[in-house]
Amino acid sequence: MSGSKTIKGKFQRVYIDAEFKSLKHFFRKADYSSIIILTDSNTERLCLPDFISVCKLKNYLSVSIPPGEQSKCLATAEKLWEQMMPIADRNSVLVNLGGGMITDIGGFVASVFKRGIDFIHVPTTLLSMVDASIGGKTAVDFANHKNQLGTFAQPKAVFISDGWLNTLPAEQLLSAKAEMAKQAMLAGTKEWQKFILNFDNEHNISDQICQAVEFKIKIADKDLVEKSVRKQLNFGHTIGHALESFCLQKSKPVPHGFAIAAGMICELNLSENYYGLKANPFGEQLEFLNEKFPKINFNEKEIDEITSFIANDKKNNHGKIKPVLIKRIGKPEWDAEVKIEMIADSLKKYIDAYAK
Ligand SMILES: NC(=O)c1ccc[n+]([C@@H]2O[C@H](COP(=O)([O-])OP(=O)(O)OC[C@H]3O[C@@H](n4cnc5c(N)ncnc54)[C@H](O)[C@@H]3O)[C@@H](O)[C@H]2O)c1
Repeated sequence: MSGSKTIKGKFQRVYIDAEFKSLKHFFRKADYSSIIILTDSNTERLCLPDFISVCKLKNYLSVSIPPGEQSKCLATAEKLWEQMMPIADRNSVLVNLGGGMITDIGGFVASVFKRGIDFIHVPTTLLSMVDASIGGKTAVDFANHKNQLGTFAQPKAVFISDGWLNTLPAEQLLSAKAEMAKQAMLAGTKEWQKFILNFDNEHNISDQICQAVEFKIKIADKDLVEKSVRKQLNFGHTIGHALESFCLQKSKPVPHGFAIAAGMICELNLSENYYGLKANPFGEQLEFLNEKFPKINFNEKEIDEITSFIANDKKNNHGKIKPVLIKRIGKPEWDAEVKIEMIADSLKKYIDAYAK
């Protein structure tokens, strides 16, 4: 993609622009009483200096928190509110400069401070560009569970520049691409083909980001608060989350996206089985996911342990397990109930394919 692109949804405006023209314009036009910039210590070091110089900011408060999911909690939010109190009023803006941890907690902090102040997202990881900063979900973790407290609140704008990705570790880039693979599979055959064609081409990452953002905005526009179509974004996550928790329990944590890639493989197998589909309908997708993403290691004896995470998942509605199933590429379903034995079968199939 050359130049810049603006994606306008019903609720959100996203600027994809490596030269930050729209970001500069935003601050030139803005008339905020104070500007607070939230970073973690990595983005404070790697991104804040460029951000300040690009936006030509002189008066601002910079607040930084330790990196990592453990910072996404109420205690951190409370400290941030304490730091904001002396300088922020209802006409202040919070700038969330960082990955999904920062955009989640920053969005939450801003959305409840003095009943809600403006905030913008400047995502600096691939995952936050294509997923966390889009769609207006904010969150902190609570009582050892992810995203238990949060709001639906929209940033004034999201400013994406792929330039930030130069310092991002390769493993994190690949992990985020699993979520992009999910979005492409949900979007349709044309989008999937485009996605796999560009997968290894880092020169047009901005096009790939654009495709992902457009899809997520379209879904959020239809169902902002996840009562129907937005549920499809959980594809790969029922089994993927169970694998992630299982690996964590074994003290062998895996990047989120790698667990989701394995979850998608299992849920494609599950879909084929559930609908009784013929002739290996997802062969291309299974081969691609198998080839591009590292495997998750577990054996047959551990399948019960993995399925117990699913059986006990608090997200189950009245004890019913409803993973997202795929009838065909671009045609997901989210209301079908499956038995835990079918999930176990799909995990067994994953092991069999992996052992080959
Ligand atoms: N709200 C949503 O819809 C939504 C969707 C998906 C994920 N999430 C949330 O997003 C979070 C995960 O996001 P993430 O993967 O971006 O993690 P993250 O924000 O923890 O960032 C990962 C690491 O990369 C570092 N980092 C950030 N930018 C960098 C850069 N440009 N160069 C080098 N290092 C950099 C961070 O300091 C951190 O150490 C989770 O909390 C998840 O729940 C939210």
